[in-house]
Amino acid sequence: MPPGPSPDRPAGEIILTPDGSRTALSARFGEAYGSRHGAAAQARHVFVEGTGTHRHPAPRVLEVGFGLGVNFRATLAEVARRGVPLDYLAYEFDPAPAEVLRAVGEGGEGAEHPAWTALLKGWGQASPLLVQVPGVTLTVHFTDVREADLPPDWASALYLDGFSPARNPEVWTPALAERLARALAPEGLLATYSAAGHVRRTLAGAGLKVEKRPGPPGKRECLRAVREA
Ligand SMILES: C[S@@+](CC[C@H](N)C(=O)[O-])C[C@H]1O[C@@H](n2cnc3c(N)ncnc32)[C@H](O)[C@@H]1O
Repeated sequence: MPPGPSPDRPAGEIILTPDGSRTALSARFGEAYGSRHGAAAQARHVFVEGTGTHRHPAPRVLEVGFGLGVNFRATLAEVARRGVPLDYLAYEFDPAPAEVLRAVGEGGEGAEHPAWTALLKGWGQASPLLVQVPGVTLTVHFTDVREADLPPDWASALYLDGFSPARNPEVWTPALAERLARALAPEGLLATYSAAGHVRRTLAGAGLKVEKRPGPPGKRECLRAVREA
């Protein structure tokens, strides 16, 4: 488990990762938001590719834990490269300050996209945050996902990106997994960085077909789970 905040490692501290991307330390959970082995690499491998979003003609992404927006920027960069539309719906109950999102994203993929610029401008102003620029709609609800009304049969991709099950167990429960499964469109794919046996069993128990895949840098395996049509 990564070290929590201490006088030497203050919460909000920005961490440079080996692929040149950054992450930060969460004040509330005492854990890094993204992989210390490569935050951008994890976003792309586990979430964008893990859900097939890099091939989808019009992805609809539902994210649990918007965090620092690293997964959102990776997704933005991907849809911009292919010129396809994106509808992104995220939940975040403990928003980090806009300066942290800005500092983590600076110079990174997707950071030049008008949707990212608009997000930084509107962050902390209203809930939900709604960003609409040509081709991209982003909605961030600043609420506990356990209390949210999730749209049924909606998501082509679900990014399950809470903190670790040990520190953030409430987003890895059977009850939430069942609600997330119902938010997936038929053939929609859920991805998560965890490969823990209890996470696999929880997703399978929610009716999803779960498979292990090779992990991102620093991790042997991660998971994807499909809602079969
Ligand atoms: C690992 S970080 C997500 C990193 C993020 N996906 C990114 O790309 O930067 C986990 C996030 O989930 C949020 N979170 C944890 N439990 C939550 C809950 N019950 N409802 C909404 N957000 C939650 C945390 O506040 C944190 O921002």
